[in-house]
Amino acid sequence: MKANILVVDDEKIQREMLGGHLNKKGYSVLLASSGQEALDSIKHNTVDILISDQKMPEMSGLELITRVRKEHPNVSMIMLTAYGSIDDAVQAMKNGVEDYLTKPLNLEELDIILEKILEKQELVRENEQLREQVQKAPYFPGIVYMSEAMEGVMSKVARTAKSNATVLITGESGTGKELVARAIHEMSSLSEKPFVAVNCSAIPENLIESELFGHEKGSFTGAERLRVGRFEQANGGTLFLDEIGEVPLSVQVKLLRVLQERKFERVGGNEPIKVDVRIVAATNRDLEDEMRTGNFREDLFYRINVVGIEIPPLRKRKADIPVLAEHFIKLYAEEHSKEIVGITPDALDFLVKYSFPGNIRELGNIIEQAVVLTRNDTITVRDLPLRVSSDEEKPYEDMGLDQQVANLEKKQLLKAMRETGGNKSAAARLLDISERKIRYMLKKYGEKEI
Ligand SMILES: Nc1ncnc2c1ncn2[C@@H]1O[C@H](COP(=O)(O)OP(=O)(O)OP(=O)(O)O)[C@@H](O)[C@H]1O
Ligand SMILES: [Mg+2]
Repeated sequence: MKANILVVDDEKIQREMLGGHLNKKGYSVLLASSGQEALDSIKHNTVDILISDQKMPEMSGLELITRVRKEHPNVSMIMLTAYGSIDDAVQAMKNGVEDYLTKPLNLEELDIILEKILEKQELVRENEQLREQVQKAPYFPGIVYMSEAMEGVMSKVARTAKSNATVLITGESGTGKELVARAIHEMSSLSEKPFVAVNCSAIPENLIESELFGHEKGSFTGAERLRVGRFEQANGGTLFLDEIGEVPLSVQVKLLRVLQERKFERVGGNEPIKVDVRIVAATNRDLEDEMRTGNFREDLFYRINVVGIEIPPLRKRKADIPVLAEHFIKLYAEEHSKEIVGITPDALDFLVKYSFPGNIRELGNIIEQAVVLTRNDTITVRDLPLRVSSDEEKPYEDMGLDQQVANLEKKQLLKAMRETGGNKSAAARLLDISERKIRYMLKKYGEKEI
């Protein structure tokens, strides 16, 4: 759909000449012979771009644009000034016109300016749509999604939260297991009580027991004081056992007992301590596999997996990628104090096509890096890491030829290096270039990324 352009000029010949040109270019054109007529026209029509002469009797062009800026902020404006009247041009730019042109008009220049304005308007519109989607999507603050798959997960989360039942959250690394665990707590009747998270994979095996259950003073070398364990800390609230697949078998027995009897003893103690905690556990391992190989107790599995919540990987819910990208752009633009309005459609395309082995955490990292690196107010393909921007066939229309050639070169290099398992001389043979050139290219494009 071509844009609507309003041309304002008190000189009939000028106005009609310009109108005729724009018509030929396929725009739909409105004409006005004065500022007042223009204001009326904007009120009653959809106007995307206003082109106004500066020198007009009654209302000047400057006056007109100042009023339009206030009353119709979505209309982009171009000012036409007489040759040499730089002051007017400066004044117009200050008042929010996109650009100015001096008379006599260079129509080619005008065409280019119009294209640019329309591209920008398109981007703004897309970003507005995304923003609306972002606002509609989350049920819970901080959890962003659009996909039906996540809609299902979150509705299960909401139902689970009400029951205080034990929950097992599964999903690949970076899919949002911890975020969901916290949401369950926040939505439950225990939200005012403590939420205590234990990362079982981060604690050395010989200390897990004391971390979870605490220890009495002097119970082992180094236990100089009594220590209250995580179960006691979480009493009345939620205990999040992250990476539960990493818990050694010896501790699994004890966990099972707490879950069955709701009581335990501190390490080195014999007085049973009663607790009332809701358990939410998470793992990126396949626990059924672990059971088969004898690394995870079956009875514990069934105790934990009262409600199972499986978070799908990002590549299986691509509809979430645009809203998550927008979410992270906002988040990191603010964190790094950069004014970034959005992402180009091309760059977003690459993100949507990428497989995200690191899931949402990886998307977050990619966006943060792009926000930090970009020189524009919009993230472009150039700001994305090679692994994202090189797995695609289509030409890079928002780049110059040099950049396109470089991208093709990078892409072929990457492919050859992958296919040869990183063997430089094999890759050189494959591409029919010297090994020296391979080394040069690797350096040029950042060996680490490849
Ligand atoms: N739906 C979402 N909306 C917004 N941010 C999300 C979403 N899902 C995940 N994140 C963010 O992605 C990052 C990874 O999430 P989280 O730590 O919950 O994943 P995880 O599954 O626990 O990963 P791991 O298995 O590696 O511990 C976090 O910064 C989190 O805030
Ligand atoms: Mg986690």
